[in-house]
Amino acid sequence: MAVTVLGISGSPHRHGNTETLLDSFLDGARAAGATVEKVVLRDLDYLPCMGCNACHKTGSCIVHDDAITLFDKILAADCIAVASPIYSMGITAELKGLIDRGQYLWARKFILKTLYFSNDHIKQHKGLFISTAGLSWDNVFDAAFPAITAFFNGTGFEYYDNIIANRMDEHGGIKKHPTALKDSFEKGQTVVRVLEKGKTKLVQKG
Ligand SMILES: Cc1cc2nc3c(=O)[nH]c(=O)nc-3n(C[C@H](O)[C@H](O)[C@H](O)COP(=O)(O)O)c2cc1C
Repeated sequence: MAVTVLGISGSPHRHGNTETLLDSFLDGARAAGATVEKVVLRDLDYLPCMGCNACHKTGSCIVHDDAITLFDKILAADCIAVASPIYSMGITAELKGLIDRGQYLWARKFILKTLYFSNDHIKQHKGLFISTAGLSWDNVFDAAFPAITAFFNGTGFEYYDNIIANRMDEHGGIKKHPTALKDSFEKGQTVVRVLEKGKTKLVQKG
């Protein structure tokens, strides 16, 4: 069965720097034989978490909107590429809002203990963070990493890699960056090959 790759675009700016970088990654994954889908958070309809804690008792969210449908897709994918530009030194509201809605998975794992991801499962599920930023600062992505780590931990994905490009103001956009799009394409190809190898090993193990 083909490796499945889900791209999640958290930029409100359609076809901007970050979505373009994500598209290159997805093109690479497709070229390596993966089944690829892209979801654009801006086009979905979901509320932020209300902190009602009902999920602590039931393991389910009381709000049935596009966030829940998307979490079902995330849990079914072999690889997720989560993309957000840096806004005010962090991830966008669209992506943070989605991540918070995964609290029901946290409740299943740590309160109800009905959800457990084995080490083998995590190894065979890879998550990548894709981001762009205007500034030249080396630390401009630092505040984004912990939220992405929490997201991958909560959904059972290994935090496999970052695809990040800063200095967008200096470069005049991602399309003028000397290497970022090619690197992203290649990372898309590589992760699919790694996951394919893992699938083959699992089949051989029986
Ligand atoms: C509301 C807003 C806030 C931003 N905040 C930052 C920031 O804190 N640091 C930074 O380096 N760039 C910042 N930027 C610049 C974007 O990160 C950069 O232009 C990025 O490549 C935009 O990606 P996009 O085309 O996918 O929206 C900000 C841009 C916007 C619109």
